[in-house]
Amino acid sequence: MTKVIFVEKNGAQKEAFTDSKTTLLHIAQANDIDMEGACEGSMACSTCHVIVADAWYGKLPPPTEAEADMLDLTYGVSRTSRLACQIVVTEALDGLTVSMPQSTRNMME
Ligand code: FES
Repeated sequence: MTKVIFVEKNGAQKEAFTDSKTTLLHIAQANDIDMEGACEGSMACSTCHVIVADAWYGKLPPPTEAEADMLDLTYGVSRTSRLACQIVVTEALDGLTVSMPQSTRNMME
């Protein structure tokens, strides 16, 4: 079991678990986390924006150029911002902690 911690907009922490290799977006959606994921992972919406905890950011594979380009257009981006649809959660990421941004913008609208 791999645990992921989501810090919601109000500061509340929610733990979510997965036993398979899947994206952070799918884990959020399967655990009632308020994450839209409007484009279902095709990197067209940015509604899956998360801010990765400093201690975890360097443990993730770096974003692709396409992800970085989308993040450039995303509202409220920080130094450790990522798109949850592009993060594949494996056992090596057990304990991964991400915060939800105050708001997201759907780039498809
Ligand atoms: S779900 Fe749309 S960019 Fe990630």
